[in-house]
Amino acid sequence: MYRTHTCGELRESHIGQEVTLSGWVHKTRGLGGMTFIDVRDRYGITQLVIDVSKNPDLNEPAQSLGREFVISVTGTVIERESKNKKMSTGDVEILVNKIIILNKSEIPPFTIEDNTDGGDELRMKYRYLDLRRNPLQKALELRHNMGIQVRNFLHNQGFFEIETPYLIKSTPEGARDFVVPSRMNQNQFYALPQSPQTFKQLLMIAGYDRYFQIVKCFRDEDLRADRQPEFTQIDCEMAFVERDDILNMFENLAKHLFKSIKGIDIDYEFPKMQYDDAMTQYGNDKPDIRFEMKFNELTEKVQNKGFVVFDNAEYIGGICAEGCATYTRKELDKLTDFVKRPQIGAQGLIYVKYNEDGTFKSSVDKFFDAEQLKTWAEQMNAKPGDLLLVIAGIKNKTLSALSGLRLEMGKRLGLMDNNKFAPLWVVDFPLLEWDEDSKRFHAMHHPFTSPRPEDMHMFDTDPGKIKANAYDLVINGVEIGGGSIRIHDKDLQAKMFKALGFTKEEAEEQFGFLMNAFKYGAPPHGGVAFGFDRWASLFAGLDSIRDVIAFPKNNSGRDVMIDSPSKIARVQLDELLLNTIEAKK
Ligand code: AMO
Repeated sequence: MYRTHTCGELRESHIGQEVTLSGWVHKTRGLGGMTFIDVRDRYGITQLVIDVSKNPDLNEPAQSLGREFVISVTGTVIERESKNKKMSTGDVEILVNKIIILNKSEIPPFTIEDNTDGGDELRMKYRYLDLRRNPLQKALELRHNMGIQVRNFLHNQGFFEIETPYLIKSTPEGARDFVVPSRMNQNQFYALPQSPQTFKQLLMIAGYDRYFQIVKCFRDEDLRADRQPEFTQIDCEMAFVERDDILNMFENLAKHLFKSIKGIDIDYEFPKMQYDDAMTQYGNDKPDIRFEMKFNELTEKVQNKGFVVFDNAEYIGGICAEGCATYTRKELDKLTDFVKRPQIGAQGLIYVKYNEDGTFKSSVDKFFDAEQLKTWAEQMNAKPGDLLLVIAGIKNKTLSALSGLRLEMGKRLGLMDNNKFAPLWVVDFPLLEWDEDSKRFHAMHHPFTSPRPEDMHMFDTDPGKIKANAYDLVINGVEIGGGSIRIHDKDLQAKMFKALGFTKEEAEEQFGFLMNAFKYGAPPHGGVAFGFDRWASLFAGLDSIRDVIAFPKNNSGRDVMIDSPSKIARVQLDELLLNTIEAKK
């Protein structure tokens, strides 16, 4: 028998028992004729003691043990002389009488500790070693528990988990498709699903009125901390529902996860924020509402006072940073550099210090006197001791720059506590987005999203103004999920494709199957999909979704451990009638 207990299990109540443990050698140290070994498995660490004077046979195996050797040991549980309160097994140790080396290990390329000395790429290359580390095991445990809770909750609500295919025809979710050549249908390609969107709608037409699936999705897009080329959605759809039925159901799912995973009771209804308000008050469709610091528009108030930066601007707005009037010149210069970074995109930053003594000091003192600055302060609800930070420029760019600045100030002021959660629904997104490059509309969510009933009439007159019956769940500035009420009428769907610039033939060729299905009694339906990786990393308090994915890709979309993507053999290419050409340098 390899083990009677795990390495995280033994307590004082086991003292006197003979036990067998198996695991990895975490650490060894010698101390005057005694060897101490920490043995580790995913449940914890237990200290072993080898007293060579009592057990000379153990000398040789004990001396040969290196880090990450796999061992099985048998011995007696004894009380530890110097107890370690930080370890769950810290009251006891095992006096060993038998060691078996099950496997040796080379010296690992980095330490298997909570704070390892391994860099990102190295840990990715040896991901199986990285996964032995406690923080990753905790993250995967949390992810597992979330999956179980999602399934429990949705099962209890009558949802069926139904699998949908991975080898499909392209679904337009806005990113590029990964494609798979077909050997049996030469010169033809499958696309991997960006989401099961069309299939879940077909399931509604098929009468499965509550569907969900924890499912892999594939998108060939530029990667960031919160994006992977393959990621997992909690994908859901319901029939015979209106928007609020869906929001209620999934708000309850969210509350269930908060309670069961984080032990947090949320006894209030999640706030609903209009997309337009989110953009004007936070410059962002995923506002972090753990703190206020909303934008204040100053355009009218400050123009035509001789300051050309303001006079030439389409929009002028600012935030009030509480208690920051003491910022030094150096700190303000640093903030100015921050907003000028290309990712933030402002031309510059104007500050107004509202000093504790009621006086003002600003970077625009030449143009605005204290009385005028006081009216800014009043409008921005500032009090003595606060700092006003103002940006001017093209409206969209300035709102986005202010959003970056607001988040930076939130971070600096410690307002973004990882243990605090602020969920909300952002609702009423625009249905269509104008794309200057292609000179046509794109669907902001996807082409199956229904317009709000009250906006339908604008299809032929002012499509850009139509609001969608769409919603996102946002928690702490992270877009956790999004969905919509769908179009279930074939004529309206055809209208939508037309607005998106599809010809009748193109729409038929790509989505004929769905339009056809709409002819056979499609019920009203809608749904939502949550980014499982994002939600798990948020709950785990981690910055990147990589840390809740066992085998993630790096920022160039590579798995450096298995070295993928990689070339394939000539015979495989021949079978597929494919040729490759060398990329231009
Ligand atoms: P959407 O495209 O908004 O909607 O995706 C839903 C959620 O999936 C997560 N997500 C990602 N997570 C990690 N890496 C990515 N590359 C990535 N892309 C998206 C986000 C996002 O909110 N079919 C629709 C849903 C619906 O309408 O029901 C859809 O896929 O958390």
